[in-house]
Amino acid sequence: MARVLLGVSGGIAAYKALELARLATVAGHGVRVVMTEAAGRFVGAASFEGIVGAPVLKSEFEHDPLRGAFPGDPQPQHDPIGHLEVAANCDAYLIAPASANTLAKLASGFADSMLTTSFLACTAPRLVAPAMNDRMYASAATQANLATLKERGIAVIEPDEGRLASRGEFGRGRLPDPVRLLERLEAVLPGGDRPWDGLRVLVTAGGTREPIDPVRFLGNRSSGRMGLALAVAAARRGADVTLIAANVTLQAPAGVRRIDVETSAQLAEVARAQFPSAHVLLMAAAPADFRAAEVASAKLRRYDGLDLHLEPTEDILAGLSAARSEDQTIVGFAAEHGEGGVERAKEKLSRKGADLIVLNDVSDPSIGFESADNAVTLVDSSSETPVPRASKDEIADVILDRVAALREGRQSSQRADTQSSP
Ligand code: CTP
Repeated sequence: MARVLLGVSGGIAAYKALELARLATVAGHGVRVVMTEAAGRFVGAASFEGIVGAPVLKSEFEHDPLRGAFPGDPQPQHDPIGHLEVAANCDAYLIAPASANTLAKLASGFADSMLTTSFLACTAPRLVAPAMNDRMYASAATQANLATLKERGIAVIEPDEGRLASRGEFGRGRLPDPVRLLERLEAVLPGGDRPWDGLRVLVTAGGTREPIDPVRFLGNRSSGRMGLALAVAAARRGADVTLIAANVTLQAPAGVRRIDVETSAQLAEVARAQFPSAHVLLMAAAPADFRAAEVASAKLRRYDGLDLHLEPTEDILAGLSAARSEDQTIVGFAAEHGEGGVERAKEKLSRKGADLIVLNDVSDPSIGFESADNAVTLVDSSSETPVPRASKDEIADVILDRVAALREGRQSSQRADTQSSP
């Protein structure tokens, strides 16, 4: 059980914070809720109090009956300073929804309410989930405030794109689903069910860009969503996760170390440096197979024509697995078109020295690339398992379950070998 401090600021999405509080409580966390005055205009403290079983904190001058303790914890003998105590006791502080006004205050270090003072005093992992009208979100001021918060190590959970509260409006600004918010929160929480504690996982995601001239490149349609879902899922299991992100515009989860790269050569170099210390490699990125043999130093002009010569890039996965050690588990991904995919995946499994290939049929346009869903077949040396269409988050968990099973299988056969050897 972790101690979760949930800050709720004023916005229509505050109603979703009720569900988040419920999910976090059901998951076994002790939850305290801090509300701004504006939040109280959208949802009532009584609802939160009923859900989490503890009084809501509204003002830094109000007496907290629990003396800064979380549900299930003993209260201190003395009467501590409320905003300091609750901030010191929490394992993570998430503000959801974070309004434009609250973000501006947090970025400027305001200390004018229970929410802002406790946020300022909190040294546990802090996350904000902005939710507002899309134009307010896109405004230079809000973006600058978010950039400031990110620079200070505060994780920003990007809002979703979709229908907004004001009639007929559509855009980026929706508070993500409470299930996803809880996932992001749990990824930074200590303790809990962390079967992968101590495991180092290297994930590659996105598609490389191979320059042609200073403004043009050869690229592919990989969005990085599958790799990101794997990074989140591995972090939730307690792994120490490094994400090599090739041109991924999506935000990496809090608690995941992210290294950005652009070309396949850069991806290869970073992967070679990171791989030796990783226990698990999840090679979800789509590195280019070809790049321009020569990159023009100035922008090519349309009327000069273009005769592009390509040369193959290195096979990063094959190179890494050639240098693998016994206790490393390697997962490759194969985007295949139409029939014969399983045979080609099997061939890649041995050619690339992987333990598992996640086969993705890219002939179905409703899944893969930009989509939030996927359907895959897990191909290893002895089996092929179709995984029906599901969200990339769910698919990521199925892949990690298989990785865990492969590792467990190898460890028990190693144990059997040592016992049978004289
Ligand atoms: N891969 C890699 N380096 C490359 C290309 C691909 O490491 N230059 C990795 C991908 O990250 C993926 C796996 O290899 O995990 C399979 O990628 P895929 O593009 O299907 O394989 P290719 O070797 O490109 O095979 P082909 O083009 O023949 O399908």
